[in-house]
This record gives sequence, structure tokens and C-alpha cells, in this order.
Amino acid sequence: MGILKIGVVGCGRIGKLHINNLINSVPGVQVVAAADPMLDKSGAREWLAERKITNVSTDFMDVINNPEVDVVFVCSSTDTHCDVSRAAVQAGKHVFCEKPIDYDIDKIKKLLALVEEKGVKFQV
Ligand SMILES: NC(=O)c1ccc[n+]([C@@H]2O[C@H](COP(=O)([O-])OP(=O)(O)OC[C@H]3O[C@@H](n4cnc5c(N)ncnc54)[C@H](O)[C@@H]3O)[C@@H](O)[C@H]2O)c1
Repeated sequence: MGILKIGVVGCGRIGKLHINNLINSVPGVQVVAAADPMLDKSGAREWLAERKITNVSTDFMDVINNPEVDVVFVCSSTDTHCDVSRAAVQAGKHVFCEKPIDYDIDKIKKLLALVEEKGVKFQV
């Protein structure tokens, strides 16, 4: 199997933690893209560049539409998890989503039905 390519949505506290873990502790993966609307205000752009992640955007759809990305890590604010995950699954990407998926059980059920339909992996 080749290198699993990961795109990270949300580069705050937990997004950075996952990126460091992926780079330092997980063999066979590469973080190839990242998105966060606060990239420039938060200093995340520089933080990512220090880790050689330069394919970055303020629009999470750029990660999802990136054909190189196999897996989307959803590490953005809780209120965005369902929408970001849904777009990623719709695009045929596997998803690792930070907890919680959402506070609305019906939205979660609809998302998980889409996961089944698309046959992708979805980990929380
Ligand atoms: N599993 C755990 O132990 C654990 C621990 C901490 C946080 N979390 C979860 O992780 C999520 C993030 O928490 P945090 O502490 O990193 O918060 P944070 O505020 O430090 O980071 C969230 C980041 O998401 C970005 N963001 C907001 N909207 C976005 C969008 N549309 N697209 C891309 N990025 C967007 C923000 O700009 C911010 O940089 C929360 O849902 C939280 O519940 C889980």
C-alpha cells in the first residue's frame, strides 16, 4: 500500500496535535494539505510551513476537492463537523472526525447513512 495522504481541516489546538502525531508517530502517512479560515491571524500558516505543509487554504473545500487527499481529518470547531464531514464523504474521502460529530442526532444519522452509501471509513 502506498502512502496515505491526509488533509486537515481546522488547525487550532487539536488539529496541530494531530498533525504533530501524524508527522512524528504514524508511519505510512503524509499530511499534504490543511485549511483554516484563521490561517493568517492565528499564525497557523507559518506553523504549517515549518512542517513543510504549504498546500494550505482558508477554505476547507480546497482540502476536500484536492484529488491527492485520501483522508480528511475534521479538527475544526464543533459546529462545523457535520458539514465538513458530509462534504468529505460526498467527495469519497475517508474521514477522521473529532468528537462530537454534532449535537443533533438526526444530522448524525443522515451523515452515517451517507457514509454507508459511499462505502468510506468514518472514525470519531
Ligand atoms: N478528542 C479530544 O480529546 C478533543 C480535545 C480537544 C478538542 N476536541 C474537539 O476538537 C475540535 C476543535 O477543538 P480545538 O480545541 O482544537 O479548538 P480551537 O478553537 O483551538 O481550533 C478550532 C479551529 O477550527 C478552525 N475553524 C473554524 N471553522 C472552520 C472551518 N469552517 N474550516 C476550517 N477550520 C475552521 C478555527 O479557526 C480554529 O483554528 C472541537 O470540536 C473539540 O470538541 C477534541
